Amino acid sequence: MTIEKQLPSTRTTELDSICLKAEVIPVLAIARIEDAVPLATALVEGGLTVLEVTLRTDCALDAIRRINEALPQASVGVGTVLTPAQYRQAEQVGADFVVTPGTTEALYRYGVTSSVPMLPGVATVSELMTGWQYGYRRFKFFPAEASGGVKALKAFAGPIPDARFCPTGGIGINNAEDYLALKNVMCVGGSWLTPKSLVDAEDWDAIRSLAREAAERFHH
Ligand code: 3PG
Repeated sequence: MTIEKQLPSTRTTELDSICLKAEVIPVLAIARIEDAVPLATALVEGGLTVLEVTLRTDCALDAIRRINEALPQASVGVGTVLTPAQYRQAEQVGADFVVTPGTTEALYRYGVTSSVPMLPGVATVSELMTGWQYGYRRFKFFPAEASGGVKALKAFAGPIPDARFCPTGGIGINNAEDYLALKNVMCVGGSWLTPKSLVDAEDWDAIRSLAREAAERFHH
């Protein structure tokens, strides 16, 4: 592995200012395009203005375009980015940031050249060390609960104290606080704010209440 170029530190600063806006980032998988704007609106009205829309559904890119247009005050990240080609698609739809579930050399290299900051997903110290060499300082910790949770994050702080994380995977209203109490956690992410049953029922009031509960409980 030869590292020719490192991530500019401005990308880290950009991620910090996005994460400062919300301690909780809802993770969305939008199955019906017509849900995109009402769902995002309910979350933003509830007080959660940073969203991650995953590329797990056919209409995801279109959904991100529509959300960006309807809610300019929201910061919209594109999640489940697996390849540089998807990273480019995220750039084209106006992503404020990119989130990956894991890392590859290709993604680390592409992210260094992009003007859109990436939160690379790591679960081990080795993946973290590779990212660190490329200049990455902010990471998603995924899948958080399955990969050692709070204990793992405390252990990461030993060798790499300056790395900070957005843990996701198995986090909900009852354990978010345990993560947010850690010095190396800047925010948490999760799909608990967008339960499929409420989205299918178009119950935007209930989703707004879930968002409000999280925003009030975990505010900075
Ligand atoms: C993600 O991609 O971040 C996860 O799917 C979110 O995990 P959760 O569904 O356990 O919250």
